[in-house]
Amino acid sequence: MRVLGIETSCDETGVAIYDEHQGLIADLLYSQVDLHNEYGGVVPELASRDHIRKTLPMIQEALISGDCKPGEIDGIAYTSGPGLVGALMVGASIAKSLALAWNIPSLGIHHMEGHLLAARLTPNPPEYPFVALLVSGGHTQLLACEKPGHYDLLGESQDDAAGEAFDKVAKMLGLGYPGGPEIARLALNGRHDRFRFPRPMTNRPGLDFSFSGLKTYTLNTLHDLDVVSDQDRADIAHAFQAAVIDTIRIKCQRALEYSGLSTLVIAGGVSANIELRSTLQAMGDKSGYSIYYPEARLCTDNGAMIAYAGFERLKQGQTEQLSINVKPRWPMTELPPIN
Ligand code: KG4
Ligand code: ZN
Repeated sequence: MRVLGIETSCDETGVAIYDEHQGLIADLLYSQVDLHNEYGGVVPELASRDHIRKTLPMIQEALISGDCKPGEIDGIAYTSGPGLVGALMVGASIAKSLALAWNIPSLGIHHMEGHLLAARLTPNPPEYPFVALLVSGGHTQLLACEKPGHYDLLGESQDDAAGEAFDKVAKMLGLGYPGGPEIARLALNGRHDRFRFPRPMTNRPGLDFSFSGLKTYTLNTLHDLDVVSDQDRADIAHAFQAAVIDTIRIKCQRALEYSGLSTLVIAGGVSANIELRSTLQAMGDKSGYSIYYPEARLCTDNGAMIAYAGFERLKQGQTEQLSINVKPRWPMTELPPIN
């Protein structure tokens, strides 16, 4: 089976083809980051217009680069939520139109399930059951995954997502968008012992997160300095990143203990963070947990994760009607099981 995957939920156009036997045979990504940079964040209308421009030529290019004829595609998967409604509608419209023209099934994929299943695109994928930590620009969630497609919410952010906090703090520090990689880079020059920022909601039970107070704490620390040097900015970036990562580590350890599971899968854009990966790996090594994460390029938004998640569901015969129905808000717990 071969599945064409289309991702257009935010500011990246991703198109990929997943083949059951050969794996990814095409994987193209176009980032709109330059388009949105001057506005300091994603402008939804501009995102939709750019997806419209890019998606079809990228599908054509994916077919050529994968040496694949349209007749060899067995199904089309596209991101149907959560995300920006206009951007989602671009991918959905193109996916359904091609499905009609090629007379093949199409299926809307949950963006965060795509992120999670990207961790299976390795020769040694994680086995179920596991705890999933999903950390992106829009989500910070801990889920228990007993079986494919079964998700129980253990905890989530009550305000900003982890990636959103990285982006906002980056803006305060005069860094570009997306802020996560910029903060990670700046933090390398930061000193460990200059500041210690709070680890929100760790001194009471529960698996929820809150990053908005930490963001304010960071802003206040910055305001307390009369003149802000490059070293100050690096020290603040370091302290902020350390606080986010330590908070996530504490909650992951708690989720594993609480659920009795021994495998943790981390996914979503923030899981590209090298410090986060090594901190969680060290926790796993110390406490006997297995830790899995997607390869770095598959942590942030991409078409490959949608093609693969689509393959897992389409191969079970899951499909949908041609009418277009995107879901800007869509709890993962509402997904039907995969098998
Ligand atoms: O998954 P993703 O590409 O898009 C969403 O679904 O939101 O995640 C994007 C988020 C952004 O907030 C970005 O700043 C963050 O992931 N991010 C990182 C890193 N790379 C991307 N955060 C921390 N460290 C990174 N290396
Ligand atoms: Zn994403």
